[in-house]
Amino acid sequence: MRVLVTGAGGTLGTALAPVLAEAGHEPVLQDVRPLETPYEFIQGDVRSPEDVLRAAGGAEVIVHTAAIHGIHLRNHSPRDFYDLNLTGTLNVWEAAVAVGARAVVFSSTMGVYKSHNAPGAGAALREDVPLQPGDIYGWTKVAGEELCQLYGRTHGIPSVALRFGMFVPEPFFRYGIRLLYGGVDTHDVVRSVMTSMDALTSGNITWDTFNVESVMPFQENDA
Ligand SMILES: NC(=O)c1ccc[n+]([C@@H]2O[C@H](COP(=O)([O-])OP(=O)(O)OC[C@H]3O[C@@H](n4cnc5c(N)ncnc54)[C@H](O)[C@@H]3O)[C@@H](O)[C@H]2O)c1
Repeated sequence: MRVLVTGAGGTLGTALAPVLAEAGHEPVLQDVRPLETPYEFIQGDVRSPEDVLRAAGGAEVIVHTAAIHGIHLRNHSPRDFYDLNLTGTLNVWEAAVAVGARAVVFSSTMGVYKSHNAPGAGAALREDVPLQPGDIYGWTKVAGEELCQLYGRTHGIPSVALRFGMFVPEPFFRYGIRLLYGGVDTHDVVRSVMTSMDALTSGNITWDTFNVESVMPFQENDA
């Protein structure tokens, strides 16, 4: 399948493209900045409907990763988050409808929950825990998930929202600590995208959300 990956120069997109190719898919990469890649690359901005539509031509699946996220909260305004994360997702959905895409995989976050990685806070390992984002980033992802459901209802395009734990690249020692607080390895993030694509295109899912994080091994009384 021809698979458009938005924000493809990022951590997820960089790891995902070769796995897509190995699985026999045709990755089409889009990013706002130039990328050195052996795969088809279409430079563009997800805030521009025309750019997204151009990149989506012929795509059967769109994996939407372009966003600013938690680490950007300190140097980006709420409007920046709204413009990129929400307008970008709207543009992806409009393009998905226009090109007749079969499925969309949306990158969400564990930040849609109030508190997901504090010891004793009641780890949100169940997807039916009420959503209560604590910042504009988490809110844009809740709104993005709502858009997925709306377009599924109104246009019949199935989608999955993957609520990722932290996978920002880190030095080895910090990486280990991170796995104790819900963080995940990028390989597992990629695997969750591939599995979602298969489930969506084989008709097994019309809409769902999945937490993608490590199980926190501690309870409050362990402290
Ligand atoms: N990395 C994490 O720990 C983490 C955790 C939870 C959720 N997520 C979500 O997963 C997704 C992927 O995260 P990541 O770590 O790979 O992101 P990243 O920051 O590594 O990469 C994002 C990419 O998007 C591109 N981009 C920025 N603005 C753009 C625009 N206007 N148009 C097109 N592309 C643009 C950037 O150039 C960059 O290559 C994001 O949606 C993020 O919110 C990430």
